[in-house]
Amino acid sequence: MLSAQERAQVAQVWDLIAGHEASFGAELLLRLFTVYPSTKIYFKHLGLCLDETQLLTHGQRMLEAVGVAVQHMDNLRAALSPLADLHAQVLRVDPSNFPLLIQCFQVVLASHLQGEFTVEMQAAWDKFLTGVAVVLTEKYR
Ligand code: HEM
Repeated sequence: MLSAQERAQVAQVWDLIAGHEASFGAELLLRLFTVYPSTKIYFKHLGLCLDETQLLTHGQRMLEAVGVAVQHMDNLRAALSPLADLHAQVLRVDPSNFPLLIQCFQVVLASHLQGEFTVEMQAAWDKFLTGVAVVLTEKYR
């Protein structure tokens, strides 16, 4: 559960990236696939070398879903329910991949926002994304 202050910090970070979902998302995926190549296995059906267009398209979709989560911080479970079904029951993404994505997300934010991305923002964003990951992986059980 995020405090009021943490929610405000998450929203502040989102305001800085909203409108740039495709480019942030593509960079996030590129980092994920490069730093943790095992994550590429889930995208095999799209071709192992995801091209720029695919990175932008999927990156945008992923970040738009994060935007929805920001708008529904109080009710993540309901807001992300179809996405949770997809990741758990259709894609069967192993939950261990989510912390890797979260780590890459923090690096993308830090490298773009630099001093604007305060330690408090990082802590709040980490807690928020962990909450998203919990919801997206809990249907495995
Ligand atoms: C698809 C969001 C984590 C693998 C999707 C879609 C969204 C999404 C919005 C598209 C759904 C649709 O087309 O209806 C997210 C969010 C994540 C997350 C918000 C965490 C914050 C992951 C992780 C992996 C992964 C960690 C694996 C490493 C996939 C794959 C697809 C997908 C393989 C299908 C791609 C395709 O066939 O076009 N995800 N995802 N996701 N996600 Fe995730």
